[in-house]
Amino acid sequence: MTSIELRTGDRLPSVGLGMWKVDRDAAAALVGDAVDAGYRHFDCACDYGNEAEVGAGLKQVIADGRCSRDDLWITSKLWNTYHAAEHVRPACERSLRDLGLDHLDLYLIHFPIPQKFVPFEERYPPEWFFDPNAESPRVELAPVPVSETWGAMEKLVEDGLVKNIGVCNFGTALLRDLSTYARIRPAVLQVELHPYLTQQKLLRYCRESSIAVTGFSPLGAQSYFQLNMAQQDEAVLNHTVITEIAARHGRTPAQVALRWGVQRGTSVVPKSSNPGRLRENLALFDFELAVAEMDAIDALDRGRRFNDPGHFAEAAFNTFLPIYE
Ligand code: A2P
Repeated sequence: MTSIELRTGDRLPSVGLGMWKVDRDAAAALVGDAVDAGYRHFDCACDYGNEAEVGAGLKQVIADGRCSRDDLWITSKLWNTYHAAEHVRPACERSLRDLGLDHLDLYLIHFPIPQKFVPFEERYPPEWFFDPNAESPRVELAPVPVSETWGAMEKLVEDGLVKNIGVCNFGTALLRDLSTYARIRPAVLQVELHPYLTQQKLLRYCRESSIAVTGFSPLGAQSYFQLNMAQQDEAVLNHTVITEIAARHGRTPAQVALRWGVQRGTSVVPKSSNPGRLRENLALFDFELAVAEMDAIDALDRGRRFNDPGHFAEAAFNTFLPIYE
């Protein structure tokens, strides 16, 4: 398994298991299957609603001696309702408790969308609606600047709760602003990346700013069919450029999309609940794409963002929340 060196000197494994949409009931066993398949990097979040079950799985694999805590890279994410300075540490501590850890390897601000605080005892994870039982539930925002949240994230590093901090779903403008006041620069940016959303300028900015990039939804539309957020004809894995390269290398289309992600210097966090596909998604390091193949995949870009709050928040949460425009 290759890894990416972060600005702190820590090494982020190039492939992690994305835990978004992993059923609670299946999460602990999946962690065990994934560790046995060779995964050491787990991409978690408060909002995924399964951190306690992931924690049970981690506890088991460590107790069994299948790996040690030091072998693992655990990422979690600060949910939108906890952006105010006084809520950042309690939110991190709740993730740590659920995951059964004394520190995180990486803690990320999940979205640049500060929402009104929902007390932990009232609802956890709070998700998007401020009050799901209201007559017409909506997302309620809170006026918290990123600088306030970032200061509290820095304090987590200083206090030893997390080793690295970063952000998700930021563009260059927010990153540039953050860089003007950050005492601890973001180590990682996590954004949606796949052959239909290559984000070349964002990647170049991050390369030039020593920010490592993790791509979520590296298989493209795959995650979004079941959510009715993608059409069948948008399947990246069915594109002839991908399938032809896959056939040439005797690999699957998913392996080609993931290898392209790793080979362009990003880490990738594909989710799979299937033991065969878990292994398939990790078997990326015994073949290489030619420059012309990398270029052909780069050229598939169509700026298609499947996970866009400017769309899904209005459809699902009755609130228009654009962040990329
Ligand atoms: P499953 O869990 O049944 O394997 P992403 O991480 O890009 O969001 O994609 C996750 C989705 O892609 C899930 O629906 C997952 O289904 C599916 N998936 C994961 N690995 C593969 C693969 N190697 N080939 C095809 N589909 C995959």
